[in-house]
Amino acid sequence: MVRPMRPADLDEVMWIERRSFSAPWEESTFRGLMRRRSAALFVAESGDEVIGYSVLWFAADEGELGDIAVLPEARGRGIGRLLLRESIKVAVDRGARFLYLEVRDSNAAARGLYEKFGFSIAGVRKQYYTGPAEDAIVMRLDLQDAVR
Ligand SMILES: CC(C)(COP(=O)(O)OP(=O)(O)OC[C@H]1O[C@@H](n2cnc3c(N)ncnc32)[C@H](O)[C@@H]1OP(=O)(O)O)[C@@H](O)C(=O)NCCC(=O)NCCS
Repeated sequence: MVRPMRPADLDEVMWIERRSFSAPWEESTFRGLMRRRSAALFVAESGDEVIGYSVLWFAADEGELGDIAVLPEARGRGIGRLLLRESIKVAVDRGARFLYLEVRDSNAAARGLYEKFGFSIAGVRKQYYTGPAEDAIVMRLDLQDAVR
């Protein structure tokens, strides 16, 4: 159900990305990350349809969850949880100590998901987002706690 993202998935990924974010990434960003060994990209599949994805990258002992989204019609069914579980697993496998992410202050669904996995608030970037302007909450998961 969760597998590495391939270039052939990008039409479906971009459809979800554009419907999920007010400032969606460009397709070239996904393509570029897919070529980087320091990045990991996953899709969640139902039948042969891509219904969600997550994107991470790693540097030193830190990982960053750069993007995660689920097709609007498929939300609330545990797909985000599956993708985050796989993302945490790959971060542990690659030897990261911490996994970081940024989330809009008002994004209750995403914050609820992250808190469920043990992420805690590490800081606030004031007015980090535009369209609409909003603070970013920086969250961090200590992966030693996650695997214990
Ligand atoms: C955030 C997102 C990926 C969650 O995916 P999902 O498949 O709907 O989430 P799940 O069904 O796996 O839910 C897992 C947990 O997340 C939390 N959650 C999910 N939707 C929620 C909502 N609408 N309100 C509050 N908490 C919510 C709950 O804690 C839930 O656990 P529960 O089912 O035991 O209550 C999805 O809402 C999404 O794609 N949002 C748009 C993109 C986005 O904001 N990405 C995050 C950027 S930082």
